[in-house]
Amino acid sequence: MQTEDRGVSVTPSFYGDAMNTDPVASGMAYQRPSIRWPWINTPWSRKPPLHYSCVWEDADVLCAALQPVALGRRLLSISSAGDNALALLTLEPSEVAAIDIDPTQLAALDLRSRAFEALDHDDVLVFLGVREGHNRATIYRTLRSALSRSSREFWDNVPNAIQAGIIHCGRFERYMRWFRCLLPQRTRAAMRRLADANGSEERSRIFDEEYDGLLWRTLSAVAFAPRTISTFDKRRPYLDRASSDVVEMMRRRLKNVLTAAPWNESSYLTYFFTGNYGYGALPLYLRPEHHDAIRSGISRLSIHNVDLADSAVLGRFSGFNLSNVLDYNAPDSFGRTYRGVLSAAEPGARLVYWSASADSQRPTGSTCVQSVAEAKRLQERDRVGAYESFHIDEVCAPI
Ligand SMILES: C[S@@+](CC[C@H](N)C(=O)[O-])C[C@H]1O[C@@H](n2cnc3c(N)ncnc32)[C@H](O)[C@@H]1O
Repeated sequence: MQTEDRGVSVTPSFYGDAMNTDPVASGMAYQRPSIRWPWINTPWSRKPPLHYSCVWEDADVLCAALQPVALGRRLLSISSAGDNALALLTLEPSEVAAIDIDPTQLAALDLRSRAFEALDHDDVLVFLGVREGHNRATIYRTLRSALSRSSREFWDNVPNAIQAGIIHCGRFERYMRWFRCLLPQRTRAAMRRLADANGSEERSRIFDEEYDGLLWRTLSAVAFAPRTISTFDKRRPYLDRASSDVVEMMRRRLKNVLTAAPWNESSYLTYFFTGNYGYGALPLYLRPEHHDAIRSGISRLSIHNVDLADSAVLGRFSGFNLSNVLDYNAPDSFGRTYRGVLSAAEPGARLVYWSASADSQRPTGSTCVQSVAEAKRLQERDRVGAYESFHIDEVCAPI
């Protein structure tokens, strides 16, 4: 274990054996993660240091979409908390360049990367906050010298977030905590029945009987209103611009993901409803089978504080993870961003993105780009359920 090279003995027993088991199976479905600092533990806590402490786009879908253009080639990924930039390393690209306009999000990726380099799988889970552990500050001290100066300054100033586990310190994750607090007892009890149900028909029946009443409609009308999301997290202008009823759209999507498959098999839904990942429901980058590939790929990860519109300054890429960044562009800046991506794209490159609207976001006149039909099939596998559509745009190869 690399931490020993740094003169620190880190063994699993050092953290105790409190494995974070499947929350439903263990009957702990609604227990919040063990976060010891009241300011971060409460849904109304004031200053979470990051916007996103987890990534909320399905990494399995992303990797399947970029797999055909990844091996031995360069990929560009929006960083956010860093989960999916790390997940892309499993495709064995020659490089993953992670970019973000928000340096605090890059600090989140930097710290995750250093954790992968230095810790074994169990200790990564402990340090990030998936598994119980009380010595995160000690581990942080072993990692901090490998961080960039700006990341070190950022994390040095938020010891509470380190101690609580860095996957729990985002504003968006705080919004989720607030949402969970509102869930009535009856709805919580129905979660377990949903997880145990036999097939999607039974799940739909349980959902209609237990959720689709006045209480759920009132709660979801408040919780999913763009104004509420803006208050607890940040303003999403694309929700204000949405042509259809945002609350109704969110209810429909939530019903879809909750009834398509047992929610406790999805790491994203498990976090959303319980406040942490389940042992059997980890996002791709945290699954034990990928740990070594990611650890050995870290040397091929580069981190840049660059706007997507300017991504050509980093050279050319064969695949792009654009998250849902295009949603955030005002109509006038949208064309500039998309053209900026195209100017960094190799012939045959894939641009992968999620969207809050039903349509592809290609600007009119992008003649050299075509939609890949496979995106529809992949969207059906998406286990986050936060977006209305998923797209793969392919840059035409020269004839
Ligand atoms: C688009 S947000 C993800 C949004 C989130 N999944 C949601 O619920 O809307 C992901 C990251 O993109 C970054 N970002 C936004 N616009 C960007 C741009 N033009 N260039 C680079 N990064 C950008 C944000 O700072 C954030 O960390």
